[in-house]
Amino acid sequence: MTATLLDGKKVAQHLQQELKKKIQRLKKKPHLVAVLVGDDPLSTLYVNTKEKACAIVGITSSKKQLPATISEQELIKTITTLNTDASVTGILVQLPLPSHINQTTILSAIDPKKDVDGMTPFQLGTLALGKEELVSCTAKGILTLLDFYKIPLQGKHVVIINHSILIGKPLSLLLLQRNATVTVCHAYTQNLETLTLQADILISGVGKPAFIKASMVKKGAVVVDVGISKTAKGIVGDVDFKEVSAKASFITPVPGGVGPMTIAILLQNTYEASTYQ
Ligand code: GUN
Repeated sequence: MTATLLDGKKVAQHLQQELKKKIQRLKKKPHLVAVLVGDDPLSTLYVNTKEKACAIVGITSSKKQLPATISEQELIKTITTLNTDASVTGILVQLPLPSHINQTTILSAIDPKKDVDGMTPFQLGTLALGKEELVSCTAKGILTLLDFYKIPLQGKHVVIINHSILIGKPLSLLLLQRNATVTVCHAYTQNLETLTLQADILISGVGKPAFIKASMVKKGAVVVDVGISKTAKGIVGDVDFKEVSAKASFITPVPGGVGPMTIAILLQNTYEASTYQ
């Protein structure tokens, strides 16, 4: 078997074209503010990529670059100012934050109506209750990609290797809402291979190159690679693409799979949030 490519780049472009038309019809354009604490090169790259994507669909964006030494109180003050600024319709706090800052405290300070990342307690709680408002971009991006390729979810066993609030937790809730059977694995999971071999759909967000080998994948499974690692050969995912694509039915490439979908959903969420205000 040679797997069909789940082409996130193509699907994201399609979504962005649709969104651009909707934004053109708006009187007041959405305005996204990305808060970047410190100067981590990968976080800077992510934020710059998001800003470029905003410009393509007609969303105004700005970056609030803050020093890594900023106090938690000062950061909360910045977010409170953005919450009350009527010209700002979306707020994104790029993660990770420096270790002296409590991530939950900061995310909780964002106005849920401007929470384009879907990480406030309100938005995650709403999702847990079975309602979708502003949902984590990566999780929704994966679901949108699977839906685009008409991959059935009901009754399927989905194994996710990641239990973060950005990926594993919101994704498991979205999939449960679609009546999938979900197993969430992480670094402490025992007998990982026994579980991955049962997966109809395997989703890996570990961040280790060639972590998923063909021996861990059931024949005909759908494989979604959310891993990102910087290597001498460039950006690679978690999946040993060559050997796994010979065994899977569908597979995402890295780059060009989940990454562009995450950005497309961020733009959709930013549009959606602007309509709440
Ligand atoms: N860091 C890595 N990915 C993300 C993301 O999707 N959103 C935010 N806020 N931070 C991230």
